[in-house]
Amino acid sequence: MSLSTIALVLSLTLLVESSTSQDPNTDAFFLSDFFSKMGHSSISTSTSVCEWTGVTCRANTESVTRLSLSGLGLTGPIPESTIGKLTKLELLDLSNNSITSLSLDIWELGSSLKFLNLSFNSITGSLSNNIGNFGALERLDLSHNRFTGEIPASLGSITSLTLLNLGHNRFNGSFPDAILGCKTLVSIDLSDNLLEGSVPNDFGNALKSLKVLNLGGNRINGRLSDISGLVSLTYLNLSSNSIQGPVPAVFHRHLETIDLSNNQFQGHFPFVNLTSLVYLDMSMNEITGQFSDGLDQFGSLKHLNLAFNEFSFQSFPSVGKLSGLEYLNLSNTSLTGQIPSDFSQLASLKTLDLSQNYILGQIPDFSVQDLQIIDVSINNLTGQIPEPLEKKIPDMQKFNFSYNNLTVCEPHWSLDNYSTAFIGSHDDCPIAVNPGHMKNMESKRKRLGLILSVSLSALCLFLGLACLFLGLRKRNKPMEVKQVSFNKEENSMSGPFSFQTDSTTWVADVKLATSVPVIIFDKPLVNFTFSDLLAATSNFDRGTLLAEGRFGPVYRGFLQGGIQVAVKVLVHGLTMTDQDAERELERLGRIRHPNLVPLTGYCLAGDQRIAIYEYMENGNLHNLLHDLPLGVQSTEDWSSDTWEEDENGDNMRNVQITPEGTATWRFRHTIALGTARALAFLHHGCIPQIVHRDVKASSIYLDDSMEPRLADFGLSMIAGTNPDEEICNGSPGYKPPEFSDTGNPTAGVTTKSDVYGFGVVLFELLTGKKPLGDDYPDSKENSLVGWARAMVKRGQGSSIIDPKIRDTGSEKEMEEALRIGYLCTADLPSKRPAMQQIVGLLKDIEPKTTKN
Ligand SMILES: *[C@@H]1O[C@H](CO)[C@@H](O)[C@H](O)[C@H]1NC(C)=O
Ligand SMILES: *[C@@H]1O[C@H](CO)[C@@H](O)[C@H](O)[C@H]1NC(C)=O
Ligand SMILES: *[C@@H]1O[C@H](CO)[C@@H](O)[C@H](O)[C@H]1NC(C)=O
Ligand SMILES: *[C@@H]1O[C@H](CO)[C@@H](O)[C@H](O)[C@H]1NC(C)=O
Ligand SMILES: *[C@@H]1O[C@H](CO)[C@@H](O)[C@H](O)[C@H]1NC(C)=O
Ligand SMILES: *[C@@H]1O[C@H](CO)[C@@H](O)[C@H](O)[C@H]1NC(C)=O
Ligand SMILES: *[C@@H]1O[C@H](CO)[C@@H](O)[C@H](O)[C@H]1NC(C)=O
Ligand SMILES: *[C@@H]1O[C@H](CO)[C@@H](O)[C@H](O)[C@H]1NC(C)=O
Ligand SMILES: *[C@@H]1O[C@H](CO)[C@@H](O)[C@H](O)[C@H]1NC(C)=O
Ligand SMILES: *[C@@H]1O[C@H](CO)[C@@H](O)[C@H](O)[C@H]1NC(C)=O
Ligand SMILES: *[C@@H]1O[C@H](CO)[C@@H](O)[C@H](O)[C@H]1NC(C)=O
Repeated sequence: MSLSTIALVLSLTLLVESSTSQDPNTDAFFLSDFFSKMGHSSISTSTSVCEWTGVTCRANTESVTRLSLSGLGLTGPIPESTIGKLTKLELLDLSNNSITSLSLDIWELGSSLKFLNLSFNSITGSLSNNIGNFGALERLDLSHNRFTGEIPASLGSITSLTLLNLGHNRFNGSFPDAILGCKTLVSIDLSDNLLEGSVPNDFGNALKSLKVLNLGGNRINGRLSDISGLVSLTYLNLSSNSIQGPVPAVFHRHLETIDLSNNQFQGHFPFVNLTSLVYLDMSMNEITGQFSDGLDQFGSLKHLNLAFNEFSFQSFPSVGKLSGLEYLNLSNTSLTGQIPSDFSQLASLKTLDLSQNYILGQIPDFSVQDLQIIDVSINNLTGQIPEPLEKKIPDMQKFNFSYNNLTVCEPHWSLDNYSTAFIGSHDDCPIAVNPGHMKNMESKRKRLGLILSVSLSALCLFLGLACLFLGLRKRNKPMEVKQVSFNKEENSMSGPFSFQTDSTTWVADVKLATSVPVIIFDKPLVNFTFSDLLAATSNFDRGTLLAEGRFGPVYRGFLQGGIQVAVKVLVHGLTMTDQDAERELERLGRIRHPNLVPLTGYCLAGDQRIAIYEYMENGNLHNLLHDLPLGVQSTEDWSSDTWEEDENGDNMRNVQITPEGTATWRFRHTIALGTARALAFLHHGCIPQIVHRDVKASSIYLDDSMEPRLADFGLSMIAGTNPDEEICNGSPGYKPPEFSDTGNPTAGVTTKSDVYGFGVVLFELLTGKKPLGDDYPDSKENSLVGWARAMVKRGQGSSIIDPKIRDTGSEKEMEEALRIGYLCTADLPSKRPAMQQIVGLLKDIEPKTTKN
């Protein structure tokens, strides 16, 4: 530090000391006294008072004229002989502090004061009549304090007043007539006080310059006098009072904001030319008649609330001209009929409340980009929620669709907080109309087509002629959204056939059920039709619903002749033409293997593709392993003849299942081997190879001989499911690592991803644990794969074998099976064995049967 800086610091210190001992009776003295008494000591008093923050002086004097001390944390009462002595003051802003009361001498500030802002403090007590002393006051803001008592009449003597804000206080008494003396007033805000009585009669004629009038949130009553004289008015707020009588009829076209809500206004909705109006709230009054035909004139509106009045029944208004609307609230306004199509022109809507009306028909498809709040509860709406809106719901602040006749898909709304938003809706997933899920199908088909063209090989003979028909579709139909319009639905309801079901708008679309054929491969001469399918499933009644599968709902049905079938209504797959879908279903019908659930037939009904499968009596492996008490109930569940040894010599069925049930190593091994055979067949016995994409315990069914049968192969082409989202990212616990590693998950879909899924099933069979969710001790891994692999690696495989099967077979064989699972679930796809090899490995450890 140089000598000169030290000198500077010293001299500054001296200066501070000298100026803290101000000459008495100067503005600097009063002000520094004020600061110190108001708990504010950090003001630098080292310089001339005119240089202090917030202080302005008259030119070349030390007289303070403007004092802006907003938000400085000043606390307590204003002391006498401080601010009150600044006699030249023109502007005083002490807003946004914690001042609790005014000094007596503040009224002596005199006639030079033009601007006084004491808002956002905690000043209590009544406002002194001395306020009239401020004869030159132009703007007075005392809002957001705790003033009580009446508004002093002396305000009327301040003839230069343009702004008066006494809002958010506790002023009582009646509206001060005296204010009418302030002819130059531009803005009056007396909102949120306790004012009573009525608005003075000649109010309208007195204040020609008034632009802003806010009397909201008081107790003002009586009728509103003629305010047509307020020719400059742009903002009128009378909300939350008790004002009666007709809605003031003569408005001026400058008006931008009208808030008359929550009063007792009566009469009709005023139809006037208010081209500038941006904000109109007349909700919660007693307005009668209709408004439906009169909204066109409010072309600039952004906010419209007419809720809770006593309107008579009226059709839904045409709102197409109000294209800037951001807030629309027509709750409880006796609306009937359907929402007109011009509703879709409301492109900026943020809030929509149409609750408590009698609106019919469907919710229209409108722009939901900005939508944050929607309430359509308590109406007579039907059909589904338009897809863009449905997708938006999870991001929205508030939504309520309760008490309508809507059809919603329950799995989408499983969160708790959704439950009260869909009260009384039909819980149904008719058909997922979800074209967005199909976006990547096109490119994938092209790729498979290429594989087909280069790799036809001798293996095809294995399948016989069937494989010659494997040509995948080359034509692509552009993606389209199928929208069942409400009218269409209504008409067809009374059409050729009507039905009783809570589901399926699509069923109604099939015009002539008796002329739509159902193809059953094994019975080519029997003429089944769609109406037989309807009969078989009681019109796809929910009672016959077996499952909501990934590719669509599955129903159980009995066709004539005692054929029991599982009917799968595939998710919309409109990227494929009918002919292509037909060909593909024919192809799948020819793919038969003792360990695959056979496709028995199909039906193309309207836009719907329906696949018919043999019904699997004994459910699926997931249920068997995890839902039933193993080996206990099962002997009663299946009739004993299903345990009979199969004598047909087929080596796939040479395993005897004993009545001890399914909790045996031999049975688990049968399941594993059968599933491996099915997959080996799909991977290696079929050209082009079929990658299942969704190997998991619940895809493995058990037929009436308790043989495992893999279901759902080959469906992803016909159904519109997006493999990326639904399969690659779905089926938690069975997902191979490469699906999450690659940016493009479809790149990872190979036969080796099926091998991984099979490995998980194998672990499941051996440990009896679920792939996720069960408690996995001794490992940080929270999945079956992580845990089982770690145990096998440590050589502790035998300890994780399901205790229920441990004593039913050779421990060595089971440990070996665990090692196969370990190989199948290798991180690198290339390290996993092929399905054919796995069949060999499993055969090597086949438990000895009594037969052998
Ligand atoms: C009051 O002052 C605080 C800072 O002190 C500021 O954050 C706040 O916005 C101010 N409030 C008003 C109403 O000006
Ligand atoms: C008074 O001060 C408050 C808070 O700083 C501010 O919001 C308000 O606009 C001021 N009033 C006037 C009339 O300028
Ligand atoms: C206004 O309130 C004060 C108390 O704050 C009370 O004494 C006075 O009677 C009230 N005036 C009216 C007209 O209600
Ligand atoms: C009208 O005044 C009430 C009460 O102060 C307030 O809640 C409401 O927001 C105001 N309306 C408008 C449109 O500013
Ligand atoms: C409404 O007022 C605007 C502007 O003042 C005028 O151009 C328009 O013609 C008027 N419309 C009607 C229907 O009076
Ligand atoms: C619609 O207006 C009514 C009456 O003012 C109100 O209670 C309701 O909250 C409003 N709805 C929305 C979504 O703002
Ligand atoms: C509409 O509000 C009135 C009271 O303002 C109420 O009596 C009526 O039940 C409401 N209508 C509906 C459909 O809820
Ligand atoms: C709306 O549905 C209710 C029953 O939910 C029925 O009582 C009422 O008549 C229906 N209103 C109209 C206009 O269809
Ligand atoms: C609900 O809609 C279905 C048709 O979608 C109709 O059959 C049923 O009568 C409606 N229920 C009510 C209460 O309006
Ligand atoms: C519903 O709950 C979930 C989880 O508790 C939360 O993330 C979500 O924001 C909630 N949604 C709504 C609309 O409250
Ligand atoms: C939806 O509205 C109904 C009827 O007013 C009400 O019972 C329910 O609680 C509301 N749900 C939500 C989420 O606001």
